Amino acid sequence: MSEAPFKSFAIVGAGPHIGIPIVKAFLAIGAPILVIARPTSTNTSALPDDDSNLKVVRADYTSASEVSAILRENKVDVLISTVTLVFGGVLAQNVLADAAKEAGVKLFVPSEFGTAPPASGLSHEKHDFAVYAKSIGLPTLRVYNGLFNEVVPWLTALTETGKLHLVGKGEMAGSFTATPDVAGYVAHILTTQPPSRLLDAEVRIEGQRATLSEIIALYKGSVPVVHCDALPTEGVVAAEFRTLLQRRFEVGGASSGWKPETGSDDAELASKDNSLWEGHRWLTVGEVLGL
Ligand SMILES: NC(=O)c1ccc[n+]([C@@H]2O[C@H](COP(=O)([O-])OP(=O)(O)OC[C@H]3O[C@@H](n4cnc5c(N)ncnc54)[C@H](OP(=O)(O)O)[C@@H]3O)[C@@H](O)[C@H]2O)c1
Repeated sequence: MSEAPFKSFAIVGAGPHIGIPIVKAFLAIGAPILVIARPTSTNTSALPDDDSNLKVVRADYTSASEVSAILRENKVDVLISTVTLVFGGVLAQNVLADAAKEAGVKLFVPSEFGTAPPASGLSHEKHDFAVYAKSIGLPTLRVYNGLFNEVVPWLTALTETGKLHLVGKGEMAGSFTATPDVAGYVAHILTTQPPSRLLDAEVRIEGQRATLSEIIALYKGSVPVVHCDALPTEGVVAAEFRTLLQRRFEVGGASSGWKPETGSDDAELASKDNSLWEGHRWLTVGEVLGL
């Protein structure tokens, strides 16, 4: 295979949290990107409408032939997926992988953007997908960034309750990376690295390493802190998911250096691939949340 960087990129599941930031990051460096949205998607309204490097088409994600025809027609090298985990999108990725394989896509970037997923338990669907992609011979690039800096108010149910809920002691460090940094990183490495560095690779990045107690301290007592065993469920969508995510912190599982095979965290590994974005200054949680 040629070692010239990939040239043609598409994305499925471009939603507000990470997909659209990735689209904007491509456009910011003048790289063309094709958005393949579901027929019913309203997220497309948040995309720029005046950039000739952006093309938007619609397809039924449950039809491998429909998605594959679009990928082939646009000679797509790399398909990025940012489909939802919480609402079942990752379970639907197998069809998208079949379509990519059928169309000759060279690299699939699955919807990861968290920590290395375990074979069972929280986010195991991401692990299952990686196994599936391997089984059909579709190369993947998996990006582990820990938590997005922006999720702190959501993770602690501050958004809904006005209080920071801390499950457990909050003394283990995790990784935080701002979404513009994750998005910029994805666009940067996909357009600059030789394919051999990206095919069947896992990259681990970390904007800031901190415990939840340290993050809560950034609020300097401006909001009440509730120590609890689980988040309140009333009016808190996916409360159980968020509780499980906080429990992951307690064992080091919120670090980009988390290794599910050994159930251990490697702090040095967590930022191992930051260096692929040479000279980049990573945003802190305080900067992103204005604390
Ligand atoms: N590390 C972190 O802190 C963090 C935080 C949030 C998310 N993430 C990760 O980022 C990835 C994207 O999550 P998100 O929160 O950004 O997702 P999201 O915005 O809720 O949704 C992203 C896209 O998923 C599509 N989608 C919804 N249901 C689907 C289904 N059943 N089948 C196929 N596609 C479906 C939506 O399509 P339409 O536009 O058609 O509705 C939307 O464009 C996930 O892997 C998630 O775990 C990480």
